[in-house]
Amino acid sequence: MSHLNWIKVNDNIPDDDFVKEIKLDGKKLCLVKDHGKLYAVENSCPHAGGILSGGWCKNGNIICPIHRWEYSLENGRGASGQGDYVNTYPVEVRNDGTYIGFEKSFWKRLF
Ligand code: FES
Repeated sequence: MSHLNWIKVNDNIPDDDFVKEIKLDGKKLCLVKDHGKLYAVENSCPHAGGILSGGWCKNGNIICPIHRWEYSLENGRGASGQGDYVNTYPVEVRNDGTYIGFEKSFWKRLF
């Protein structure tokens, strides 16, 4: 996966499931642990800018706290009828910490 730029997460990662905002390289993301698995998605809801890290998980989806639209943690797809999606990023747990991968060009465009 050499086309990806892996950035180490400096925030504390709790053992239990959580939804929280993290800062990576000065940029905000939503980091989620759901059923013990980590997911990283963009922090801004595409519907109307709700902060997804203020939301919660249900059935493998992150729920936006503002109007409760749902996005798949696996692939970012919005629930049927929404017609939208959030960007998702691969998470890798390594010996020396947790890393999130970004397309090199995409990282600059995103923020
Ligand atoms: S802003 Fe997220 S559902 Fe409306």
